Amino acid sequence: MKHEIFEKNTILLAIAILLTVAIGGLVQIVPLYTIDSTIEKVDGVRPYSPLELAGRNIYVREGCYLCHSQQIRPFRDEVERYGHYSLAAESMYDHPFQWGSKRTGPDLARVGGKYSNAWHTAHLIDPRAVVPESVMPMYGFLAKNELTFNDAGAHLATLRAAGDPYTDEQIAQAAADFTTQALGEASGGDVDALMARYPKAVVGDFDGDPSKVSELDAVIAYLQMLGTLVDFTTYKPEGEMAR
Ligand code: HEC
Repeated sequence: MKHEIFEKNTILLAIAILLTVAIGGLVQIVPLYTIDSTIEKVDGVRPYSPLELAGRNIYVREGCYLCHSQQIRPFRDEVERYGHYSLAAESMYDHPFQWGSKRTGPDLARVGGKYSNAWHTAHLIDPRAVVPESVMPMYGFLAKNELTFNDAGAHLATLRAAGDPYTDEQIAQAAADFTTQALGEASGGDVDALMARYPKAVVGDFDGDPSKVSELDAVIAYLQMLGTLVDFTTYKPEGEMAR
């Protein structure tokens, strides 16, 4: 028995364990140093707007990822059902990513624009109202919960420390952008400036209740932009050969 030598000598065993763990650690850590070249740059991908970010936080808080993945794999059945396979760049501003592997419900990576705001409102309040056979829980309380995001600027600044390229302007305007996106023109906010800062942001009163910004508004704003940032009519994978 060759391993007897390790079992009888604790020092040797400890050294061998250390060596094994070190190799395992290196395998995980070294690729991170090449992350800049691992994720190809893709036009259109931008950091989340404050309202989308708030919606994303609620998505994580409610554990939507326990039933929904956000990663379309490059297989024919997936691409035909959900659309273009997910690109690494599309989740580069996700901290943490929401890829997931559990699909009790459908993948949501490209659910943006698939349904109207009214559909999402009805569905989140009572999924059975629009999809009779649904097993998804009801989230009607999101419509009742008023959402304030006064520390939106601090939130963006923290994400900037994690590498997201938020500008000083985006941080300064974060709280205003939050309200403008959730309530639209009616809020008196500058929608054009918001759109310049966050191209393709979906603006409007999402849940049909203009009296307040609700958690539901934020979740729908987030769902409506998922997978919509990259224009796949012009997208060419890096290094793809001409055909
Ligand atoms: C217990 C599992 C479960 C959880 C948790 C869950 N869902 Fe679902 N979801 C489903 C199922 C099943 C469907 C498919 C039937 C339907 O449309 O209701 C679905 C469908 C959806 C759809 C429609 C997708 C499409 O392409 O038709 C959206 C959007 C959605 N869920 C969002 C959410 C959000 C947001 C949360 C968290 C607040 C959430 N879900 C939590 C199970 C779940």
